[in-house]
Amino acid sequence: MTSRPGDTIAVEAIDLVKRFDDFTAVDGISFAVPAGTVLGMLGPNGAGKTTTVRMMTTLSTPTSGTARINGFDVLENPAGVRRSMGLTGQAATVDELLTGRENMAMIGGLYGIGRRELRRRTEDLLAQFSLTDAGDKTVREYSGGMRRRIDLAVSLLASPPVLFLDEPTTGLDPHSRNELWDVLRGLVDGGTTLILTTQYLEEADQLADRIVVIDAGRIIAEGTPLELKTQAGAASLVTTLTHAADLPSAHALLAEVSDEIFVDDHARTLTLPAGGLSDLTRVAQLLDRSAIAVDDLSLSRPSLDDVFLSLTGHRAVADESSADLEGVDA
Ligand SMILES: Nc1ncnc2c1ncn2[C@@H]1O[C@H](COP(=O)(O)OP(=O)(O)O)[C@@H](O)[C@H]1O
Ligand SMILES: [Mg+2]
Repeated sequence: MTSRPGDTIAVEAIDLVKRFDDFTAVDGISFAVPAGTVLGMLGPNGAGKTTTVRMMTTLSTPTSGTARINGFDVLENPAGVRRSMGLTGQAATVDELLTGRENMAMIGGLYGIGRRELRRRTEDLLAQFSLTDAGDKTVREYSGGMRRRIDLAVSLLASPPVLFLDEPTTGLDPHSRNELWDVLRGLVDGGTTLILTTQYLEEADQLADRIVVIDAGRIIAEGTPLELKTQAGAASLVTTLTHAADLPSAHALLAEVSDEIFVDDHARTLTLPAGGLSDLTRVAQLLDRSAIAVDDLSLSRPSLDDVFLSLTGHRAVADESSADLEGVDA
């Protein structure tokens, strides 16, 4: 989503820099996030995502530059910033030895939420995150997915308009990840602005309106998921034939559309660069008029993984086993 005049900017990073001794972890990061949208900060381990989030949430002082959350400057009005945002980080904020409800009561007390209001919000949030039944169990007994959900529920107690999520699904199984994505989509539908860091290209693709790709403390690309994928290369049109014997005649037929056809005998596919839907229609018509049987015809964009590779020369695939090490840098 592009920002238009009149859009309220909920979150702004202004040339943020963070140096640790002579090492520059964040090297001049700027972006603006319209209210009610999702910004994905995508980058591999060590890119500077957590350090950026820590500066934007008043947990760490920028070496230079600043950030504004809901109009409040992190340097000039850190209290205003803290009132405006929630953070779920890699280092969980919940107490393992307390139950879900006790955690909510403790954090709600810190926010100064009145007792009746707190009870109402606690039950609403537990229900929203499917934790009503688990509310009286200690968090130590929760599964990984339940822990992320209680962490998120706690950070939503004060109904912040802006929510920072630092790798919310790292280490979760695909089912829990999907569940959490649904919860996050619900929050955005309700008007919350999300800043989400992730190493997962699919996650940014699924959730983000705009993505900034971060590598070695700098933004190396930004745009909508589609813009980034388009930037990485043209789409390709893949035709899968029913019979490999038809490959030569199909090749001759499709030569009308492109002279760059890649034939894979084993997969029975013909792949050609495609400008868009018009090429798809043309290929479908040509095949339809011939007697060639087709199993599948598809237009595919490059994945965000291809995007990262083309931008940086290295893959950004998260190693699942590194999830446990994530707390170390917090
Ligand atoms: N407190 C610190 N002292 C020194 N180096 C740090 C500190 N925190 C982070 N770093 C370094 O800064 C870089 C960026 O880290 P981080 O922001 O945690 O990356 P990401 O969250 O993208 O994985 C890493 O090289 C990390 O080792
Ligand atoms: Mg991190």
